[in-house]
Amino acid sequence: MTTHRTIAELAAALDPLRLGSEIGLVPTMGALHVGHRALVEAARSECDAVVASIFVNPAQFGPREDFERYPRDEAQDARLAAEWGVDHLFVPPFEELYPQGFQTWVEVEGLSGALEGAARPGHFRAVATVCLKLFNIARPRRAYFGQKDAQQAAVVERAVRDLNLSLEIRVVPTVRDEDGLALSSRNAYLSAEERQAALALPRALAAGAEAHRHGEEAAPAARSVLAEEPLLDPDYVEVARLNGRKYLLAAVRAGGTRLIDNVVLEGET
Ligand code: PAJ
Repeated sequence: MTTHRTIAELAAALDPLRLGSEIGLVPTMGALHVGHRALVEAARSECDAVVASIFVNPAQFGPREDFERYPRDEAQDARLAAEWGVDHLFVPPFEELYPQGFQTWVEVEGLSGALEGAARPGHFRAVATVCLKLFNIARPRRAYFGQKDAQQAAVVERAVRDLNLSLEIRVVPTVRDEDGLALSSRNAYLSAEERQAALALPRALAAGAEAHRHGEEAAPAARSVLAEEPLLDPDYVEVARLNGRKYLLAAVRAGGTRLIDNVVLEGET
């Protein structure tokens, strides 16, 4: 595995591969875990060369969010990425992606307004912009996203379609810990007590999905499970259709940590 810090270095490594090889891209913010591994494995199985990027994108964090304390350990991430089969790791410094004078943004209007977008103004504009930049830099045949962030995947799919980019977006099912908690870099912030309480989130979503299967409303069923956990403060619990699939999505706070998760109610998983 080779680590590249500039766009020119990455291009020099990828350009000779373009004829006859398919490139798969896995965009990340680092703090890699087994959820990220599933994306790399999907890319590995479908593409000839796998590029992963690590960039903690400041613009997608709100002013009171966790940009400063977001977990960063490049050496550990590089070890894991190499072990999982990443060929090229792209770790640009801030100025490489956002040089002075930068002023062009990608806004996916409708999809970005609800759910995470309502709670985090400007978040999806920054996500869509950095993803489109990464797509233009790496020019992959396919890019891999997690269902864990279903709205993010839908926003990126929409931008790719609307702007006629020629790559496929692949959405990989959520990887969970044995106890059901969706893996997330932010789980590292949880105390033992909060982590235990956080299990009410997947439990609530499962109860919602179960209610839906019985022809009942999913969101109230999920909300009543969350209401039993005093350490969790629900932000939203909603059913929404995202690019053709119907989801039950929720965001909760456990102490200072915001967690999101979702389950597919209808449509391909
Ligand atoms: P990050 O949170 O590092 O996640 C990178 C990718 O891994 C995303 O597509 C996310 O959905 C996926 N992922 C995270 N946890 C997962 C899990 N438990 N199971 C399956 N996939 C999981 O999401 C971002 O970074 C950023 O917003 C980014 C897309 C890189 C743009 O900055």
